[in-house]
Amino acid sequence: MKLTENQSKWVEETLSRMAKKMEKVRERSAEKIPYDTKDGIHADKSDERNISWWTNGFWGGIMWQMHALTGEKRYQEIARWSEEKLDTCFLHYDMMDHDNGFKWLPTAVADYRVTGNERSKKRGLLAAEVLAGRYNPAGKFLRAWNDWEGSDVDRSGWAIIDCMMNLPLLYWASEETGDPRFSQIAENHAHTAAQHFVRGDGSVNHIVEFDTHTGEYVTTYGGQGYETGSSWTRGQAWGLYGFTLSYLHTKNPEFLSAAERIANYFMANIPESGLIPVDFRQPTEPAWEDSTAAAIAACGLIELSKLSDGRQSDVYLSAAVKLLQALEKHSFNWNEDEDNFLTKCTGAYHDKEHEFSIIYGDYYFLEALMKLCGKELVIW
Ligand code: GLY
Repeated sequence: MKLTENQSKWVEETLSRMAKKMEKVRERSAEKIPYDTKDGIHADKSDERNISWWTNGFWGGIMWQMHALTGEKRYQEIARWSEEKLDTCFLHYDMMDHDNGFKWLPTAVADYRVTGNERSKKRGLLAAEVLAGRYNPAGKFLRAWNDWEGSDVDRSGWAIIDCMMNLPLLYWASEETGDPRFSQIAENHAHTAAQHFVRGDGSVNHIVEFDTHTGEYVTTYGGQGYETGSSWTRGQAWGLYGFTLSYLHTKNPEFLSAAERIANYFMANIPESGLIPVDFRQPTEPAWEDSTAAAIAACGLIELSKLSDGRQSDVYLSAAVKLLQALEKHSFNWNEDEDNFLTKCTGAYHDKEHEFSIIYGDYYFLEALMKLCGKELVIW
C-alpha cells in the first residue's frame, strides 16, 4: 500500500486542518456525547434517556484518535468523561444490546489500550460478557436489537450485518482473558453471516431472521435500505469492513473472501462523483446520499489494500482515496464555529430527515486518514 506524494500531502494537510478545528469543537462539546448537530452545534445524547444510543462511543473514539494524532492530554480527559457517562447502561438490562462493541471499543477498550486503566478493562469485559450472552446456539448468531417499545414484532431471531463491527469486542475479550468462548461465538456468528447475509453478487442483506428454536433461516428484511433485496450502502460498508476485521482477528479465509466479494461489489457501484447514495438500488430521484457509508467503506478498503499486493492492493487503496477526497471536496464543513466535519449523512432511507451530520461519519473519516498516515489507534 503506497500513497502518491500528492495524496500523502493531502492526508497530512487535512488532518492538520481537522486538528485545528477540533481544538474549538472539543471545548464546546467537552461535556456532551454528540450524535448530530442543530444549527451547526452538537446535540447531546449523554442524558439518562439517551445514554444507551448505539453511537455513543464515537465521540470518545474521535477523542482517542485525536490524542493519537496530537499527544494532547485534553483529548484523554474528554474521552474518559464520556466513557464514565456510559456506566449508567450497565445498571439497565434494556440499555445493553449487540451494539456493545460500538459503544465500548472506542471508549473503555481504547482507554485500557492507551493507559492500562483497570476500570476501563473491566467495563470492556462486562460489555463483552453481555454481548456474548446474546448468542443463539441453535442458529449460531448474535441477536441484534431488544424489543422495541410499542411494537409487538418478535425480533428475537433477527441478526443484522452491522453486528460484524461488534465482533472485535469479543475477539479482544478472548485475547485479554485467554478464554476462547468469546472468539468462538464471534467466529460462529461471522460464519453464519457469510452464509446468509452475503448474496451471490457480493451485496449484503441488512436484516436476516432465523428460527430461534431450530436456527433455520426464515427470511430477510430491507431494514434501513430502500426495500427488501435492495442494497443499503452503510450495510455494505459494515459488511466490507466487518468481515475484513474478522479475518484480521482469526485468519479464517472464509472471512477474507466475503470481504473481498463485498468490496468488489461496492467498488463497482461507486459513482463517478465518488459520492455514495443511501442505497445502491434506490430510485434515481431523490438522489439522497450517505457520507458515512463512504467513510466506513474507505476504512475497510484501506485494510484490504494492506492484505493484498500488486495491482489489487492499488485498486483498493485508490478506491478508498477517491471516496475520502470526494467527501472532503463536496461534503465537508470547515467552518470552525460549527461542530461537524462531514455533511450529507443519512440514518435510513425511509427516515423523515436525510443528509445531515452524524458523529460516526466524522469518526470513520478521521480513522481512515489516521490509517493512511500510519498514526491510527487501532480500535476494532
Ligand atoms: N448500526 C445502525 C446503523 O448503521 O445505522
